[in-house]
This record gives sequence, structure tokens and C-alpha cells, in this order.
Amino acid sequence: MIKHDIVVIGGGLAGMRAAVEAAERGADVAIVSKMHPVRSHSGAAQGGINAALGNREEDSPENHAFDCAKGSDYLGDQDSIEAMAEDAPRQIIWLEHRGCIFSRMPDGRIAQRPFGGAGSPRTCYSADVTGLVILHTLWEQLERFGVKVYEEYFATALAVEDGIGSGVVAYNMRNGELELVTAKATIFATGGLGRVYRKTTNGYASTGDGMAIAYRAGIPLMDMEFVQFHPTSLKENGVLLSEAARGEGAYLLNSEGERFMFKYAPNKGELASRDVVSRAEWTEILEGRGIDGCVLLDLRHLGREKILERLPQIRELALDATGKDAIDTPIPILPGMHYAMGGIETDKWGATRIPGVYAAGECACVSVHGANRLGGNSLLETIVFGARSAQHATDYIKSVGNVRSSERTLKAEQDRIDGILARSGGERHSHVRKAVNDAMSDHAFIFRNDAELRDGMEKLRTAREMATTMTVQDKSKTFNTDLVGLLETEFLTDIAQPIMLGAINRTESRGAQARTDFPDRDDEKWMTHTLMRYKSATADPDPDYSRKVVITKWQPTVRTY
Ligand code: FUM
Repeated sequence: MIKHDIVVIGGGLAGMRAAVEAAERGADVAIVSKMHPVRSHSGAAQGGINAALGNREEDSPENHAFDCAKGSDYLGDQDSIEAMAEDAPRQIIWLEHRGCIFSRMPDGRIAQRPFGGAGSPRTCYSADVTGLVILHTLWEQLERFGVKVYEEYFATALAVEDGIGSGVVAYNMRNGELELVTAKATIFATGGLGRVYRKTTNGYASTGDGMAIAYRAGIPLMDMEFVQFHPTSLKENGVLLSEAARGEGAYLLNSEGERFMFKYAPNKGELASRDVVSRAEWTEILEGRGIDGCVLLDLRHLGREKILERLPQIRELALDATGKDAIDTPIPILPGMHYAMGGIETDKWGATRIPGVYAAGECACVSVHGANRLGGNSLLETIVFGARSAQHATDYIKSVGNVRSSERTLKAEQDRIDGILARSGGERHSHVRKAVNDAMSDHAFIFRNDAELRDGMEKLRTAREMATTMTVQDKSKTFNTDLVGLLETEFLTDIAQPIMLGAINRTESRGAQARTDFPDRDDEKWMTHTLMRYKSATADPDPDYSRKVVITKWQPTVRTY
């Protein structure tokens, strides 16, 4: 049996930041990850990380916090938002002191570029490979502290004994054995759920694992209906072309060659918040001003030198996928599933309702993004709340004696997996995943309405029934990716429903939830979070609207850009 004081599930930015913080504080900490940490999806983050350093224009954490509250369409909890904005400059300096190579201004200070919905240029960056650069910086720190990483271990269940978290059960992909990982504190940092949609900017590993595990263990999922569609993903493969392009001055054009964004956001144009830009693009396409189902991202006027210096990766990604060189040709793009604003409900320290269980990064809903996240705040959230959850956890474990190793959870998981391996004649998990992907992409996209959502919900119910019969053809023990694929599909199938049901129930339009049958925001009724509680593998979740939005400084007002 594996035993540590703190176990972090997931080796991306939030997970590594949490582990390094715990190690710096002297805790015995380990990471359990289904892949090598530097292969995590955080490495695909491109455009940057927000902090009010004020290097390019005067700025303040308060301005940053206001932009987030407004960007969230006033659904974000303002105490959490303020905590994030205040900590942001410290965290950038922390990274810098550990060797993170940020791009610079000519005078040597960290460069900051404009991003959507931001009142000042506050996005710090490393060209357009910011996530990758921070990922490597944190990996070096893990090595420095000798943090143990259980790599190619796939967590399947949370262990709870005597009402407190006591670690996880994980499937060792190398030898097919289930192992109990006992810990006084468990921090989920498993990233997003992009693969619940047909096309996404997310990597193949973004299957909502931590969200589903916590949800099944009784922790509510919060605000799941809020899914971010990034305005610039490639039609060919869904891959992200960073908002950094528009931050550096790129245009969005329709089939008439018009910079259409000023019709929708007269002050900010292409740099309105993402929900606004994605809706505008989709409206242009629906109204017949698209080109083969896309609009165009035009970088030509930025010039070769600037593109090669600041946006080299997106030029290459576009070139590889389309054969078009952004230096001299506009690139066809469209909105693509990018980010889950919702996730495991936590407080502003990453703590969940089960003592000893934390969540940080995209899998968590600390409520800093509300109904719409601003670009550059996802990397920030991983770093700030990775660190904060580890700070809380290292204090918490001092108050806990020994936790009981949950042999019963191990046995239950062993029986469950043996049952799956013994099954025959049921559904292939690829068919179930396709059913879930189709329901989500066809019924819970940018514009939503009651009838479409209810059809989608019915399709998800069918998919969940199918999921109870899923089989694998590979029954072997070594790197059984067939089995891992099935378990991931079970997770996706579970977490799709809270998205769909949350979208049905929320009879208003706010941020990324755009209801054509309820086009207005309804602050009277909906200044409340959506909590969803798991019931069973086939029953619909239980919604709960008892958690109200925290307002500290900014009352909801009309939101324009
Ligand atoms: O467009 C981007 O570079 C993505 C950034 C983000 O999602 O924060």
C-alpha cells in the first residue's frame, strides 16, 4: 500500500504547484497522474497568465478583480476573485524566482499583453507557449524537492473513512493492479472535461476524471452548465489558436471582409470577453456571413517579425492543419469547446465539503470565473489555488492523526473492475462516448433552448443506460488502454448530465449560458450557484440552488464591452 501525508491527483500546473507548495512546507507529498506531468494538457495553454503587475500601463489587483467579476457576468464569488487577483503578482514573482522565462519589455520588465475583457494589458506570457514554460519550471521544482510521482496511475475512486478523505484507489496502468493510495489530504487537480464534446481544444486526457470521482463520492459539482467556447479554434482539428493573436492586434473578418466585432462590442471589438466574441462569430455564421462554416482570423497586418517573435506556435499549428501561412493568409476559425467554468465545489482555499479533500485548477469550481472566464485566468487559477489548497492541506494534516486505509474502497473498486472485465456482449465504449459527444455538441452548444436541451437530456439518459453494459475486448493487464478508455467514458457520461440539467434549469442568459428562449439575465432569480449531487449510475442528479453568489464590492450591472 502507498501512503503519504498529502496526495495530489493530477500532474498539470495546479497539481505540480500544489505539490511544490506542500514540499516547500515540509510535507510528505506525492503526485498520482495518469501521464507524465510534463505531458499534461496545461502544456497546451498558449497566451499567458494574468497579474496586475502594471508593467505596461497602470493597473491594480482591484481593477483585475473588477474585470473578473464583470467577465463572470456577476456569477463569480467576489471574495474568491479578490483573493486570486491579490495573490497574482506574488505568484508571478514566485515563478520568476524559480526560473520561469517570461517574455520581456525592452527595459527588462516582464511583458504584458492585452487580453479579452481586461481593462489593462495584464497578461504575462512566454511568446505563445506560456503553459509549457511554466510546466517545465514546476517540473524542475518537483525534481528539486524529490517529490514522488506515481506516473501512469489512473485514479478511479475517492476513499472516505469516518467522514474524512483518506486517499484514492488508483489503477496502475503498467501492471493492471489496483492500489490503495492512503493520505491524510487529497488534492484533485485533474484538469478539464473537454472530451465530453465532439470537438475541443482540450487534449485526449481531459475526461473530467477528478470531477466524476468527487461527484460519485458525494461532493457537489457546481455551475456545470457554464462551458466556455473559445472564439478561435481551428475548424480542421479543434486546436486552439491563442487569444494572444487578437491581443497582439489580429482581426476577425466575415465573408464580406468586415471586422464584425464592433457591431457586437463597440468599445472592445475583438477584445470583448470570450462569450461575447463566440456568440458574435456564431451569429455571423448563422446569418450567412461565414465562409464554409467559419470566420477568419487575420494576422497579416501584424507583419512577419511580430508573428515569428510573439506567435510562432499558432502560426505553425495553423500551417500544419490548414496549409495556410498566417503571415500572408487569414486562417478559418470557429468557436470551440475550451473550458469548464464549473467543477468540484470548493471554498476559496480549495477545500470541499469532505474534510481532507481539496480541488484546484480547472477541475475545481472555486467560483472565480462564474458564468464566463477571462482569458489568462486559467493559468492564474492553477497557480494561485494550487498553492492555496496545499497551504490549507498542510495545516489541516497537522490536526489529523492517522487516517484509516480504506480497504473496503479498494475491494469495491476491484469488484467493479473485475465485473467490467468479465462482461461480454455489451456496448463498445467508443459508441457510448460518441452518443455523449453528439448529445452535448448538438444540444448544449453556444445557443441553447428548452426543447433542444430536453432532447439532449433524453439522449444522455440513454447513453448512461448503455454505459452500464460497456465492455472491453482487451482483457490483459499491461497498459490496457481499452479499459482506461472505458473508465474515462464512464466519467464523461456521469459529468455530462449536470451540464445539460443545469442548462435546462437555468432559465436565463448569463455569460456562456445563452438561452434563446430566455435572452435576458435574471438577477432577481439567478444570483445563485447550481449545485448537482450524484444519485446513481443511471438516475438524474439532484439540483440544489441554496448557495448564493458572494458580492463584496460590485453589484451586478448591465455588462457591455
Ligand atoms: O487563448 C489562449 O491563449 C487561452 C488562454 C486561456 O484560456 O486562458
